[in-house]
Amino acid sequence: MKVTSICCLGAGYVGGPTMAMIAAKCPDIRVTVCDMNQGRIDAWNSDELPVYEPGLDEVVRSARGRNLHFTTEIKQSIAEADLIFVSVGTPTKSFGIGAGRAADLRYIEAAARLIAEVSHGNKIIVEKSTIPVKTASAIEAILAANATTEATFQVLSNPEFLAEGTAVRDLESPDRILIGGKPTPEGEAAVEALVSVYANWIPREKIITTNLWSSELSKLVANAFLAQRISSINSISALCEATGADVDEVARAIGTDSRIGPKFLKSSVGFGGSCFQKDLLNLVYLCESFGLPQAADYWRQVIAMNDWQKSRFVEKIVRTLFNTLVGKRIAILGFAFKKDTNDTRESPAIHICRDLLHERAHLAIYDPRVPGETIRADLLEAGVEASIIDEQVEICPDPYAAAESAHALATLTEWDEFRTLDLARIRDLMLKPAFVFDGRAILPHDELQALGFSPFTIGKGD
Ligand code: UDX
Ligand code: ADP
Repeated sequence: MKVTSICCLGAGYVGGPTMAMIAAKCPDIRVTVCDMNQGRIDAWNSDELPVYEPGLDEVVRSARGRNLHFTTEIKQSIAEADLIFVSVGTPTKSFGIGAGRAADLRYIEAAARLIAEVSHGNKIIVEKSTIPVKTASAIEAILAANATTEATFQVLSNPEFLAEGTAVRDLESPDRILIGGKPTPEGEAAVEALVSVYANWIPREKIITTNLWSSELSKLVANAFLAQRISSINSISALCEATGADVDEVARAIGTDSRIGPKFLKSSVGFGGSCFQKDLLNLVYLCESFGLPQAADYWRQVIAMNDWQKSRFVEKIVRTLFNTLVGKRIAILGFAFKKDTNDTRESPAIHICRDLLHERAHLAIYDPRVPGETIRADLLEAGVEASIIDEQVEICPDPYAAAESAHALATLTEWDEFRTLDLARIRDLMLKPAFVFDGRAILPHDELQALGFSPFTIGKGD
């Protein structure tokens, strides 16, 4: 089985960059990325891509129009493809059974029904979206019940491990590629066909093949373990603040133990992003569904710690500013959930800004990549009234405009440009005492102190 034509359903943060890399690395394969969102497709076909990722423009430009195409012609693209990636959204369910925990699989189901409707011949269907374990069975059942007589399908799981902000590097040289399939001759042939696609640029020893369920579960578990490390170090950040230890020093000290390792030990205002919380909730729901409440409680605590970290930060600001924020201007530096992305999904900044607004603060927000409309829409969705957003939120063109006449400044995203701010200028612009709350521990604490600021750094005692 040789793959010559690939289609991807979903032109989001995962589908777009992943397909661009496959097209760039496999010039003999025609790659078509489809989405029903015309605006998104238009953006992928323009100079202003809908996803900000360092290095992505070059990858897209190298293949677009050659063997990489973005289109809303979904049915035709499915019909022409040998291999179909399903990379549609899988948000957390907000209603009914499993609300707030289970994944909402309506887009996956709709995609499977569409594939069944328009497919002829042999097709390989690849789950790329993060999904609960055993979703492959659901896809198979829908395909089997609705397929045209001459169509056959093999369903594979191939979870994506790229992190936003480093997507291009992660796609170019991933730690591993994981492919799950059925242990039948047809299943193995389908796995081998997908392995051959990746083998165009990834060493074979980095391509792990497993059964379907192991592959599906591994994605959830990888994200749960990563999130758990952040919650672990964030719990220690609170202890450091109470005792006068420095969490970054503790992280360095423990990270040199090769069994622990140095990565993912950066204390912060909490993890965000579209994956960690969703996947943890999914894991909790799976554990509950299989009658394992103790395992569910264990993983639920990782989220509880993350929520506490965000509210702890707000409380620190309120207490430090003499227990009232009414009418006070607070400069917010960073709104994205991490640096080098324009994505704000589950960004800790949303919750922190919402709570500060409820304390009646005025927020002057600056983020180098997130548009003002996105910030306003996120706050509205988080339950802040439109009138409060209109009256109390100002979107600023740079950090200095945000700092002007501010009672306090808070860093919520670790953008590199915040490391080289003209701090003396910021101090002169702010009201005194000039309070700084460094939620990402990126500013030079001692220098801030020497310049006359009243600084607080997450995980650092007073
Ligand atoms: C994550 C996984 O890393 C990736 O493998 C998976 O495919 C998708 O989910 P992503 O959410 O894009 O990727 O970014 P990641 O770098 O993991 O950061 C997630 C959140 O954790 C961010 O808010 C980040 O600021 C925070 N974080 C990360 C910390 O607070 N401390 C750290 O040490 C690392
Ligand atoms: P991710 O971060 O996982 O890539 P996104 O929400 O950014 O998630 O992207 C998912 C995309 O999938 C959205 O642009 C949505 O319009 C698209 N989508 C959902 N269902 C379908 C479908 N049946 N066919 C094509 N695209 C779809």
